[in-house]
Amino acid sequence: MAVHSIQLDALPASREQARVWCAQLEDGGILYFPQTPAPIPAEDLDFLLNQRQSGGAIHKNIAYKPDRDRLSGWDGKSMSTAEVDRLRDIMRRYSAGVNAFLEEFLAPYQRRWRLDYASYRPIEEEGRDLPLRRRNDLLHTDAFPTRPTRGARILRFFHNIHPTRTRDWVVGEPFRRVVNEFAPAKLALPRSRTGAGRAAMRVARVTGLASLVSQWRRTPYDEFMMQLHNAMKEDAGFQSTCAKVFVEFAPGSSWMVYTETVPHAVLSGQYALEQTFLVDPAAMVTPDSAPVAVLERLAGARLT
Ligand SMILES: [Fe+2]
Repeated sequence: MAVHSIQLDALPASREQARVWCAQLEDGGILYFPQTPAPIPAEDLDFLLNQRQSGGAIHKNIAYKPDRDRLSGWDGKSMSTAEVDRLRDIMRRYSAGVNAFLEEFLAPYQRRWRLDYASYRPIEEEGRDLPLRRRNDLLHTDAFPTRPTRGARILRFFHNIHPTRTRDWVVGEPFRRVVNEFAPAKLALPRSRTGAGRAAMRVARVTGLASLVSQWRRTPYDEFMMQLHNAMKEDAGFQSTCAKVFVEFAPGSSWMVYTETVPHAVLSGQYALEQTFLVDPAAMVTPDSAPVAVLERLAGARLT
């Protein structure tokens, strides 16, 4: 696992350099900006960091949905309507700012992505009391239980807005290696859907049931990625013995990584912003490295 540090004076980059950065991401690397390339205005930062002091309190992760301009997760008891509106404005600007930056920075992808949710993570990560499958401090690859990506890649762009503290991660080996540890020995390789399975999916789509029951939108690829997420967290041997490195992200820094393939865990840190992109695997500069391609080669079947 490699962390590739990028200084702001290296931007804008040449076409060749942009392709190198994309290839490094696709190879399981982290692109790290010691100084964020998508800065937040000082008054917005103050608002985000001072919620706890002004009587208001953000107890949970806040999610912002750019396609509907909707905010969720805020605490209705302690935040006024004006504060919620202000928070939505800040998240909207953050989301748009990161999207604009990546349109340039990841030019080889030609915007072949869906802008997914943004989040604000105000909670101290160390010592959170969460059920095992929801714990962030165990190495895992990301999979969304209710929102299958159907082969799209999960690219996440983070910003540590804590004024003084680092955000501390552990990162494991890239997907192509880690997947061999689990499949097929501990986890069955995915198989393409049977004719009956495909017919049931069609019925679910036509009747609208697929929009209500996320399981019916999951492809064999999504099923496997969800199982892999759970299997990693539940495997104490893997957690303690797998190859891993510790990474500290400085206050004011940003980083991006394909979190559905790079095993990661958050050990400590507070106040981070994050924007998710669902990237078309066909847009990769190294399409063979996309997890759907790796799994289809291993399984010898189409999985989406
Ligand atoms: Fe994660």
